[in-house]
Amino acid sequence: MSRDRREWKTRDREREGSGTVPGMSRRTFISGALAAGAAAIGHGLIPGISIIDLAYGAESFSFAWISDTHLYPKTLNTRFVEKAERAINDVKNMKPAPDFLIFGGDLAQLGDPKELQLGAELLDQISIKKHFIPGEHDWYLDMGETWGKMFGKPPWTFDHKGIRFIGLDTVSRGPDYWTAKKMTPAERMGHMATLDGSVAGPWAGLGPEQLQWMAATLSNWPKDKPVIVFSHNPLYEYYPPWNFWVRDWRQVHEILRPYQHVTNIHGHTHQVLYNEIGSMRSIGMLATSWTWPYPPEGVPVLTIPMVRVDPGDQFDGVGWGKINVPSSGKVAYEYMMWRKDVYAQSQVDSGTGDNDNQVLSPRVADRP
Ligand SMILES: [Fe+2]
Ligand SMILES: [Fe+2]
Repeated sequence: MSRDRREWKTRDREREGSGTVPGMSRRTFISGALAAGAAAIGHGLIPGISIIDLAYGAESFSFAWISDTHLYPKTLNTRFVEKAERAINDVKNMKPAPDFLIFGGDLAQLGDPKELQLGAELLDQISIKKHFIPGEHDWYLDMGETWGKMFGKPPWTFDHKGIRFIGLDTVSRGPDYWTAKKMTPAERMGHMATLDGSVAGPWAGLGPEQLQWMAATLSNWPKDKPVIVFSHNPLYEYYPPWNFWVRDWRQVHEILRPYQHVTNIHGHTHQVLYNEIGSMRSIGMLATSWTWPYPPEGVPVLTIPMVRVDPGDQFDGVGWGKINVPSSGKVAYEYMMWRKDVYAQSQVDSGTGDNDNQVLSPRVADRP
């Protein structure tokens, strides 16, 4: 088998099982996305903010998403701070104001309390209700102690205008890779701060307790009513070597499968990304800090890849997005970036599936 993507095979099997995939067709998605890209050019708005408009009959509202700010202390590096500040400023200036803000994790770069404090101070400028889920960069210096005190610990849930929202913790249940190797907290954190997480292993996951919690939380929710699940990592197997997944995604899907309108909105991948499995759609949001490359195995077939970004322009490749959910529960969304061409017109423009140009360096574990 070539570099086949097991997740798509799984999805295809699920399609075969259910006959049709509820939700957006590829054609609908592409036309929507391209229209959105065109609209984005005119706006020139602040990167990193994702505006999510939801409309269910008379009930329509919006909320904002910011994630992956990866803040360093200002004394060390202000490049990411500047972009986070602009994103936050834009949320502040939204009219009408969004109902709430979701912060999707990786507020800090190295879990330093100073970084988390800086993030909290910046986000304090936003007066609307804020909900937080952590990223791995927020967690592995002190195992979530500072994060928990400042922002509380997921999972959490709330209902808003006919939608059940769920916030997950996909980062704290990693296997213990540090005790046997006598790592310091900083060394433990250091392994989390790399794209190649081979020392930390398959750290992304919900764990049995949280899976049980999610099943219980959904048990009284009608199957035809919408559910939106926030997670730092994508809730499917996209690219495990970079923890672009949760390791127990099959169990996640078992729980979510009966619900007809499930949207997963996630961070961590720092790139334009879209996938559908069964009745769940997953939307990868942009970072405010930087873009990751697409993995060498390519992207989900429903993803229209973003164009390769200019490495000389620190504001390239980050952006904000707008998501609309009509009464059918189907999600249409837009990415907006500070660039003219958001979507790649050909494979060479995106670098995805372009294996000659995308060769992984040896994993940390494989190096001498
Ligand atoms: Fe991140
Ligand atoms: Fe992350």
